[in-house]
Amino acid sequence: MQVVKYVFQPHGDERGQLVALEEYKDIPFEIKRVYFMYDTLEGVRRGFHAHKSLEQILICIHGSCKILLDNGREKKVVPLEKPYEGLYVSNDMWREMFDFSPDAVLLVLASELYDERDYIRDYDEFLAFIKGKTEVAE
Ligand code: TYD
Repeated sequence: MQVVKYVFQPHGDERGQLVALEEYKDIPFEIKRVYFMYDTLEGVRRGFHAHKSLEQILICIHGSCKILLDNGREKKVVPLEKPYEGLYVSNDMWREMFDFSPDAVLLVLASELYDERDYIRDYDEFLAFIKGKTEVAE
């Protein structure tokens, strides 16, 4: 599995750091939605879904957390601990977020508006979705 991590260019000077993200330039899609998680309680694991079409970039802009990526064949855990690093998560990737530090703020840039119909929340349904896509591609 290829993990796609973007390293953004901070505009640093004597005052501090600034990261700017523009759609289609720094982010490979139109940014239609932004959301973030904070005050996540210790031990919480969330996500547990894939998407039919949504693409996302996850940035832990404060603190740290870990992301489990699962493409149905392989799993990888990606730590996010730098505010200038973004993890690309394609639609067809099962994801779980965990190990949030108490100060973690996980920012998500999303290619679509919120639509519950785009979610695949059942793992067996996810495996069937992946299998269907693979068969079409063969
Ligand atoms: P949820 O899907 O449970 O988050 P996660 O997948 O990270 O565990 O979302 C929590 C709540 O927030 C749920 O009631 C749906 C709502 N929500 C929105 O209204 N808009 C959004 O863009 C997102 C991501 C969630």
